[in-house]
Amino acid sequence: MATVIDGKAYAQKLRNSLAETVATLKKDHDLVPGLAVVLVGEDPASQVYVRNKAKQTIEVGMQSFEHKLPAETAQDTLLALIEKLNGDDSVHGILVQLPLPSHIHESTVINSVSHDKDVDGFHLINVGRLNTDGGGVVPCTPLGCLMMLKAQLGDLTGLNAVIVGRSNIVGKPMAALLLQANCTVTIAHSRTQDLEGLCRSADILVAAVGRARMVPGSWVKPGATVIDVGINRIEEQGKRRLVGDVDYDSASAVAGAITPVPGGVGPMTIACLLHNTVQQAKRLRGIQG
Ligand code: GUN
Repeated sequence: MATVIDGKAYAQKLRNSLAETVATLKKDHDLVPGLAVVLVGEDPASQVYVRNKAKQTIEVGMQSFEHKLPAETAQDTLLALIEKLNGDDSVHGILVQLPLPSHIHESTVINSVSHDKDVDGFHLINVGRLNTDGGGVVPCTPLGCLMMLKAQLGDLTGLNAVIVGRSNIVGKPMAALLLQANCTVTIAHSRTQDLEGLCRSADILVAAVGRARMVPGSWVKPGATVIDVGINRIEEQGKRRLVGDVDYDSASAVAGAITPVPGGVGPMTIACLLHNTVQQAKRLRGIQG
C-alpha cells in the first residue's frame, strides 16, 4: 500500500513556522502582515474557503480583512475596492476569491490587484516571473504540491511528471514549478491521446481536472507519487462525500505515495496562502529572508 502524504500535518508544520516568523516581524519590525479576502456572491464552497482562510490567518497572528459583496456588484465597484486595498498600508496581501460572477471580467480584476500584494500569483507580472527567472509569488495550490513532493521524494531531477489539467490556477503553474525542479513535464488535457498510457509513464502524477475519481489505479505506474488536487462533492449511497480526481482505493494499492482527499492538497493550499502573505509583507517593507 502507498504511503499516505499527510497534507494536514505538513500544513500544521508550515503554519507553526509562519507563526514564529510573524511574531518576529512584530517584535523586530512592528509589522503585522495583513490579508484582505474579497468574496463576490454566495457560492457555498467559496464561503467555506473564505471562512477557513480568515480563521487560519488570525491563528498565525496576522490581520484578516474580509470584504463580502453581493453577487450583483458592478465591476467598477469591485475595482474601486481593490484600488483602496492597493493603497492601504495595513494590507499586504489581496485575494479575490474565484470564480467571479459572469458579468465580471476575471483577468481585468486579477490584474488590478497590485502585483506586490498579489498572494495568488495570478497577476501577469508574477506569471511572467514564474515562467522566466522565478522570484515572484507562486500560486498557492501548486506551491503546496511542490513542497509535499520535495518532502516525499527529495531531489526531483530527471523524474517524469504528468499533470492532468491545464488551468491557470493549477496545471500551468505546476508545470512551471516542476520544470524548474528539473522534471520532464507533460501537461495532459481533455484532447490528449492515450491519456491512460501517458499517465502510466509518470513518476509524478498530478490530477487537477475537477472530475470525481477520473484516474483509476490502472493508470498509475507502480511506485509513482500521486498528487490529487481534485475536490469533488458527490452523493453516494445517500451520503454526501468529498472525493478527489483519483480513485483513491485502487490508486493507493499501486502508488508509492498518494495524497488523500480530504486532508492532502487542500490544507497545504491555505498554509501557502499565509506563506505568500508573509513573503509579500516582508517584500513591501524591504525585509530580507
Ligand atoms: N478559487 C479556487 N482556488 C482559488 C485560489 O487558489 N485562489 C483564488 N483567488 N480563488 C480560488
